[in-house]
Amino acid sequence: MHLQLDGRGPLHAQLTRALKSALANGRVGEGSRLPPTRALARDLGLSRNTVLTAYEQLRAEGFMDARVGSGSYVSAPLLAEAANDPPPRVAEPQTAYARRSREIHSLATLGTRRKVQGIRWSFQYGLPLVNPALTTAWARELARAAAYTTPNYPDPQGLPALREAICDYLARRRGVQATPDDVLIVSGTQQAVSLSARVLLEEGELAVVEEPQYFALRQILQMHGARVQGTGVDTDGLCVDQLPSASPRLICVTPSHQFPSGAVMSLPRRLELLQYARQHHSWILEDDYDGEFRYDSKPLAALRSLDRDGRVLYVGTFSKTLFPSLRLGYIVMPATLQQDLVTAKWAQDFGSSAIEQAALAHFMTEGGFERHLRRSTRTLQERRAALLDGLREIGAGRIDIADSHAGMHLVVWLRDKTHADLDSLLAHAHQLGLGLYSIRPHYLQPPDRAGLLMGYCGLSVSEINEALPLFARVLDQAYR
Ligand SMILES: Cc1ncc(COP(=O)(O)O)c(C=O)c1O
Repeated sequence: MHLQLDGRGPLHAQLTRALKSALANGRVGEGSRLPPTRALARDLGLSRNTVLTAYEQLRAEGFMDARVGSGSYVSAPLLAEAANDPPPRVAEPQTAYARRSREIHSLATLGTRRKVQGIRWSFQYGLPLVNPALTTAWARELARAAAYTTPNYPDPQGLPALREAICDYLARRRGVQATPDDVLIVSGTQQAVSLSARVLLEEGELAVVEEPQYFALRQILQMHGARVQGTGVDTDGLCVDQLPSASPRLICVTPSHQFPSGAVMSLPRRLELLQYARQHHSWILEDDYDGEFRYDSKPLAALRSLDRDGRVLYVGTFSKTLFPSLRLGYIVMPATLQQDLVTAKWAQDFGSSAIEQAALAHFMTEGGFERHLRRSTRTLQERRAALLDGLREIGAGRIDIADSHAGMHLVVWLRDKTHADLDSLLAHAHQLGLGLYSIRPHYLQPPDRAGLLMGYCGLSVSEINEALPLFARVLDQAYR
């Protein structure tokens, strides 16, 4: 059956509209049998659940009958309704990549997630730490860099001055020894993962992510066509003994601060993981997104610093240490992959913007970056303390806090609540202007309890103190 999805909204709604339109223009007449859900899902490259939901909708609206054991039949003509459907505005997916992308990621959902109307206090993870001193310093750096940066195409691997500054920083603060030749400047972790996938993974090959994991990283791998499998984490980080016996091509980990659980990967686990990678000829992508921000001890040395086999791609980003709109990050590449990764970056965008790179290089070498890091660490520590104190007070007996003494977020588990209970709790919070967010999108399989991922970067201490009584009201209602 030929159906054209219009690319607007969730896939099940797109499919419902496409089916209605097929019914309306007489392609499937009254009394005809609709394809079995499994077959239609396979033909369209959709999940069976998507098809089941669309069929259920048609059934609920009275256009379809289900007869036990014999399938689904068109039960009523549909001319009037379908005539009202707007014409499709989006082409059918033209490639397997486009098809997978539509299935996996909805920009519309992301948009609503970002700007939920009326949210005054948002615990959205990923919001930047707004800092007027940084804004002033950055404006100065940009103006300076713009005045002397050549307008010619930049080096696709990244400005040598920035790569050098990053090596210096990594040696002093993350225990990573690298030369500027090892470093590739990219536009954030997002591009680092996508270039790594291009260079390392054929369609259908196995990639392991932590369960739970950073949803965007997982989605890039899925869109690329990798077979993505989750391996659990415990308080020592990734459970290496649960890694698949079939050799994964790529294993993505957050050893410094597991996202989002907060676990720090212990030294024995790090060594086991490197040993596993050696035996299975796997590559490791070490996502060190916020390893800088530790509040009880010095940051741990990176996994890459223990790697003797050249299997670790170490990925750093300035999204957390500075701000995410900068879109700058880097890969410390194994020597054997340098050529392929730099070529992939060249093919994608010819290199990142030279002015921002020059500004950042100067900011790092003149000391402004580390001053900013020290200030941010203090600020985040104050916000974290305010949130923790408040949560302990209002949540006693109702919530469990997973605290990891690091980063910019906490995980809060709600005792004895289902995911449906959590949906009502989130809706109530949003009515009060309080942005709370489920941890669920960061799991491949839903966790067995309901939890919140609470980012505290976007709220000042006084805003956190204003938000906590609202959270208390939400909990009071949920635990009445
Ligand atoms: C685990 C993890 N890795 C990386 C990033 C940063 O991604 P990017 O560098 O593309 O902004 C984030 C941001 O939220 C993250 O949570």
